[in-house]
Amino acid sequence: MDTIVAPSLLSANFGNLKDDIEMVNRSQADWFHCDIMDGLFVPNLSYGFPIIEQIKRLAKKPLDVHLMIVDPDRYLERFKEAGADILTVHIEACTHLHRTLQKIKALGMKAGIALNPHTAVSQLEEIVTDADLVLIMSVNPGFGGQKFIENSYAKIARLREMAEQKHHSLIIEVDGGVDTANAARLHSAGANALVAGNAIFKAKNPEEVIAKLKMS
Ligand code: DX5
Ligand code: ZN
Repeated sequence: MDTIVAPSLLSANFGNLKDDIEMVNRSQADWFHCDIMDGLFVPNLSYGFPIIEQIKRLAKKPLDVHLMIVDPDRYLERFKEAGADILTVHIEACTHLHRTLQKIKALGMKAGIALNPHTAVSQLEEIVTDADLVLIMSVNPGFGGQKFIENSYAKIARLREMAEQKHHSLIIEVDGGVDTANAARLHSAGANALVAGNAIFKAKNPEEVIAKLKMS
C-alpha cells in the first residue's frame, strides 16, 4: 500500500505561504493538510475560510481538512465551498456522527473521523465502515511540534485489524510528531497516510523529507 504524505501547513511560513504551497506542489506529497482550531475543542486558534480559499487557489493537490472544532455540523457546507476535498471531524465533537459523515459524503467530500489519544479504537466498531478515513492523533491536538505518543502504534494496528475484519479499505492517517524516524514503523503498523508539520517545514530540505516519508 502506497503511503500518502500530507504536509501540515500549520508549520508553514504564513508570511510567505505561496512559496510553501508551491514547494508542496513540486514535491512528492499527496495532500495539503489544513488544521482548523476554534479555541474551544482545542486550546488554540488557527485560521479559517479566507486562508483555506487562498490555499485552494494555489494548491494543485487535494485539501485534507482536519476540524478541531465543536459542533462541526454548523460549517460542513462552508468547508466544501472553501475547497475541502477530505473533511475530518473529531468523534469527541459529534453527537450524531453517522449523520455528520453522511452529510460530508453527500456534499461530495471524503469523510474522516479523528480520534484523540485517549479515545479507544473500539468506539469505531459501529461506524468505521461509514468513514473513508480515520485519523489517529498521536499527540494531543492543538499545536505543532509536540512529542509523538508511543501508544499510537498499537492503536493503528488494532484499527487496521478492525478494518480488515470488516473488509473495509480504510485510509488510516497519523497526525502529530511524525518524522522520518518513525514513519516506517507507522507504515508497518497499518497507517497509509502520514501528516507532518514540523518535520517538513522546519527542515533544511523539505522536499527531501517528503520523499523519505513517501518511501516509508
Ligand atoms: C495538531 C495538528 C497537526 C500538527 C502536526 O493538532 O492536528 O496536524 O500540525 O504537527 P507536527 O507534525 O509538527 O506534530
Ligand atoms: Zn491535523
